Amino acid sequence: MERIISRIKARQIFDSRGVPTIETEVLLTNGIKACAAVPSGASTGKFEAYELRDGDDNNYFGKGVLQAVRNVNDIISHELSGKDVTKQLKIDDLMIALDGSENKSNLGANAILSVSLACARAAANSFNIPLYKYLGGINATYLPCPMMNILNGGAHADNKLTFQEFMIVPLGAKTFFEAMKFGVEIFHSLKLLLKSKGLNTSVGDEGGFAPDLASDVQAIELLMKAIEDTSLTTDKVSIAIDAAASEFYSDGQYFFEYENKALDTRQMVSHWENIVNNYPVVSIEDALDEEDYSGWKTLTEVLGDKCQLVGDDLFTTNPQRLKKGIEEGWANSILIKPNQIGTLSETIDTVNIAQDAGYTTVMSHRSGETEDTFIADLAVALNCGQIKTGSLSRSERMCKYNRLLKIEEELCTEAEYKNPFSL
Ligand code: PGA
Ligand code: ZN
Repeated sequence: MERIISRIKARQIFDSRGVPTIETEVLLTNGIKACAAVPSGASTGKFEAYELRDGDDNNYFGKGVLQAVRNVNDIISHELSGKDVTKQLKIDDLMIALDGSENKSNLGANAILSVSLACARAAANSFNIPLYKYLGGINATYLPCPMMNILNGGAHADNKLTFQEFMIVPLGAKTFFEAMKFGVEIFHSLKLLLKSKGLNTSVGDEGGFAPDLASDVQAIELLMKAIEDTSLTTDKVSIAIDAAASEFYSDGQYFFEYENKALDTRQMVSHWENIVNNYPVVSIEDALDEEDYSGWKTLTEVLGDKCQLVGDDLFTTNPQRLKKGIEEGWANSILIKPNQIGTLSETIDTVNIAQDAGYTTVMSHRSGETEDTFIADLAVALNCGQIKTGSLSRSERMCKYNRLLKIEEELCTEAEYKNPFSL
């Protein structure tokens, strides 16, 4: 059967923060079609591919994506019509060439990614197989261990917590189904715990609670208590942090607002050592600024054999930055956000480079999300082993978890779930 692109149509939709984003539909000549929507970050890394926004202050506060939509409908569509939708690499390369810039700033990484993902989904639909199987084949059997972001700070909340995400990690669950049970029970326990302390239980951008707390360590202790209240132990459910450190770094200093205190890199590394030695923290993401390269090297030497050190803003899913980091000894793990690089093929490249170098891989959503569940399938397809897709509330987060539950059910006895922290 021929699988030829007949038409590509983009539109402006809205993400979970009510901000415009792009969705693209790919229609094949055989009548099969598929859609994909692109998310958007708030604590965006300096080295991410370019997210094209209209910048017209009179419309959507400058955040419209109508130019990106036109770029798909008038330029990309024309170029890709008549092409075989299963040739993902060719499709992505054509769009990269058509854009012609270093960081996809002409057509917009959001425009390009929406087409790239929609093509993959249309191809999967045309074979009538699930997306994870189309992308991962017979190796796609491994369900990712989730890092569930149930307490929010930093740029994602209106409290004074320095670190952005305080996550629970059900690494001792036997199945993804059980991981979800642990996660939701702890989420509800945490709500009761916060209420009992007279703390706010409204939620931040990724659906986690965002109470006013005295310190980041207090947030970790609350998670530990919520785990205990659920009759679980921290061997079964550990803790992970995304500091998003570039957000509180300037002029060589890491600033802690709640203490009105700044730490230099050396002190910051000691701070992390204390946290890892005293709390069940198995993973720290963006522990240091995205350009504090010598700091990353030291941190990895000091903590790399005890703790997963994830580079998000540090690597921005960019194969070149990752290669450099592997050479230089920065981190031992990478966060994978397709919209940081802008095509599916480059995302897959980055995952392969990381896995070949023995770096762990964590598939990830963005803080501004949509109902699209692509990353759930992609995490299984690429054997990522871990996924970050927010808290245990709000449908733009839950839809990814729910999709993984269905994949596990569909894989049945073939499905695997294991502890990714063999450190
Ligand atoms: P962002 O945050 O989507 O707002 O960039 C997510 C993260 O830092 O992991
Ligand atoms: Zn991050």
